[in-house]
Amino acid sequence: MTESTRSPNRFLHLKRVAFRLVAAWTAVMALGGAWHFHEMSEATLKLARIQASLSFQKDLVYRRWSAAHGGVYVPVTEETPANPYLSHLENRDVSTTSGLELTLVNPAYMTRQVHELGRKQYGHQGHITSLNPLRPENAPDPWEAEALRKFERGETEVVEFTSIGDTEYLRLMRPMITEVSCLKCHAAQGYKEGDVRGGISLAVPMAPLWTVTYSHMASVAIGYCLLWLLGLGGIGLGASRFGRRIREGDQVEKAMQEAREQSMRNRVLVETAGAAAHEINQPLSVIAGLSQMFASDKGIANVTVADMDEVRKAAKEIDGIVKRMEEVSEYAAKPYVSGVSIADFGAAETREASTEPLPDGGASS
Ligand code: HEC
Repeated sequence: MTESTRSPNRFLHLKRVAFRLVAAWTAVMALGGAWHFHEMSEATLKLARIQASLSFQKDLVYRRWSAAHGGVYVPVTEETPANPYLSHLENRDVSTTSGLELTLVNPAYMTRQVHELGRKQYGHQGHITSLNPLRPENAPDPWEAEALRKFERGETEVVEFTSIGDTEYLRLMRPMITEVSCLKCHAAQGYKEGDVRGGISLAVPMAPLWTVTYSHMASVAIGYCLLWLLGLGGIGLGASRFGRRIREGDQVEKAMQEAREQSMRNRVLVETAGAAAHEINQPLSVIAGLSQMFASDKGIANVTVADMDEVRKAAKEIDGIVKRMEEVSEYAAKPYVSGVSIADFGAAETREASTEPLPDGGASS
């Protein structure tokens, strides 16, 4: 390409700038995307936390409802047998006037059953537990035991993303503090008001939340890719426009150079013609004058040797001029009349000849 060899620096510079722009744009998009993804992940985790927190609050609310009634009576069934840990209560089991057997379900019993239903139906895991459980099956798992120990040291919440088996969960646990109302059934274990009686732990499965987040991330990623491509297109367009401008500049310069050369050629032509006319003019007028004389009525008879000599000298002079013209190897001009300059046939010759002695041995003029 002649264009690129004409302005290799400018093209190289353009390429470098375009490359840097692409790199910068890619970095901006990558960082933006990464930040966006990070924010979305954070939002998902926050959402899980909110879900767990709401679950906990709801557990507390209906638990409180039940506690406000001192527990509720439900029909005795296989799933809901009489609670053996309430055997000390006088009215644990009652029967209606029509003979229906009812048993008292204390708040923890209800919470446990609700948690079991929740696990079966929604995969949410809830667990009411204690380091000193009244019902041995309510014993905590290692994570819960650790959290309960933290509550005893004064912490009020433990939240962690962890897995149970192969499944990822957000686990949240908050303590249940012994109130006066609790002592009716729990004082026998040695609890006093204000003690940590136990806690409720909740585990929100992350998979459904991630499914939503990932599909959202996919559309965001597509958006970023499109934006990135748009940016690349813009950079490409700009670069090609600049490239065109450089090429156009080159063409203008080339045309100007050609015009300069052409005008130089024209000048040389004019000067050469002028010089030839000037140099040849004088001997030519001698020849013309004499030949006119020869043709006059005096006739050829009156021609003297001197006249012939004049003609011969003039012809020789022309011959010399022609020779010098033939020998011209470089451009030289000398000023002529009214600001015009003409080619200087003698200049190049004299410059060459001056290094050698003149043929007739005389001094140079
Ligand atoms: C009517 C009696 C009764 C009252 C009142 C009562 N509980 Fe319980 N609670 C029980 C029984 C019985 C269990 C164990 C059996 C079960 O899981 O059904 C239990 C279990 C628990 C558990 C689960 C761990 C364990 O010990 O097995 C916690 C935590 C708990 N109660 C906290 C409290 C708190 C806090 C209060 C007061 C706000 C309270 N309970 C009031 C009867 C009661």
